[in-house]
Amino acid sequence: MSLRAVIVGYGSVSAVHAEALRSLPDADVVGVCDVDPERRDAAQRELAVPTASTVEDAIRRFAPDVVHVTTPHHEHEGVILTALAAGCDVLTEKPISSDLSSADRIVAAAESAQGRNGRSPRVGVCFQNRYNLSAQAMKETVDSRRFGAPLGAVATVAWHRPPEYYTSKPWRGAWSTSGGGLLINQAIHTVDLLQWIMGPVVEVRGRVGTDALGDVIEVEDTAALTLVHESGIRSVLMATNAAPTNLPVTMDIAMEHGNMRSGTELLITGDGAPDQVIKERLPSDRAKVYWGASHGELIKDFYGGFGSGKPFWIDPGEALHALRIVKAAYDGAGGFPHRAARDLDLGNPYLR
Ligand SMILES: NC(=O)c1ccc[n+]([C@@H]2O[C@H](COP(=O)([O-])OP(=O)(O)OC[C@H]3O[C@@H](n4cnc5c(N)ncnc54)[C@H](O)[C@@H]3O)[C@@H](O)[C@H]2O)c1
Repeated sequence: MSLRAVIVGYGSVSAVHAEALRSLPDADVVGVCDVDPERRDAAQRELAVPTASTVEDAIRRFAPDVVHVTTPHHEHEGVILTALAAGCDVLTEKPISSDLSSADRIVAAAESAQGRNGRSPRVGVCFQNRYNLSAQAMKETVDSRRFGAPLGAVATVAWHRPPEYYTSKPWRGAWSTSGGGLLINQAIHTVDLLQWIMGPVVEVRGRVGTDALGDVIEVEDTAALTLVHESGIRSVLMATNAAPTNLPVTMDIAMEHGNMRSGTELLITGDGAPDQVIKERLPSDRAKVYWGASHGELIKDFYGGFGSGKPFWIDPGEALHALRIVKAAYDGAGGFPHRAARDLDLGNPYLR
């Protein structure tokens, strides 16, 4: 029996979900929901499926097993709660939501959701970069302590987002709809990897500013953060949407007896062991190179666990860690909107 998928929000990233679903033998897109009639027309044309203008109507007419949430950040909660109330599994794009109280409601709803036939619906969050071969190898190397304890990490996200990226979809540049800019929308993947691989974050220090696109957006486009992990080690993150092009995300991890450097491939060097090079998967045509190539892997894994009764490993509670770190950075920066980079305070209440 093929699982029935509905995509809610037929914008930029939905094509990646549709493509991943096409490659799964046991899943079909049976409908699309979008509030924009032009996007509904595009879905009908491109996927040859019926469309709906509200998630309620989509669930009633298309009876999905899984609802994919690919709407703007502030529209995640309503769609997720409606789908959960109908007993559907939910796969939502990151971040869980645009603000923390909304994210907390999603976590609570996911934990208490009742499915059909006594099956609890699962909620997965698309932090697909955890499936990157380099990320998996870095996590395994740190956890195994093969080269001793980790000493710290340095990561860079140097990407290019022109004014049109924001003017064509104004929700992306507004605090009330996106909940932030570079950090919540782009660098959150790297924030998530840092906390996943290096351990829980208890303190955030640094600078957040709108250095390049101040005439276009009210949210930030540049950040330099130092994350203090529970173990006392630090990760440094330098991130910007003001680079001239989209460069590969890099991550360096220093260990007592070795080092790891990831970019387009991962190099692991360590005392007494031959150098190891792990090539990263190439993205498909549709996936933008800088989004990574692992959406398909995450989606396959999520569908593979349908009906297992077990929560998906990247559930809302797990995805909340990265959102808390991002919000701690904003809160410490003294709130938005502001144009100038400024120092953050320490001791943030969001990190618990
Ligand atoms: N994981 C990744 O690498 C990755 C990459 C890009 C985007 N994203 C995430 O995907 C989500 C969507 O981003 P995007 O850039 O594709 O946005 P987009 O603006 O291109 O598309 C969003 C679509 O949702 C529709 N929409 C808005 N409210 C709706 C509602 N209530 N019901 C139904 N449809 C609604 C809009 O009309 C639009 O067509 C965001 O959460 C974003 O952070 C993730």
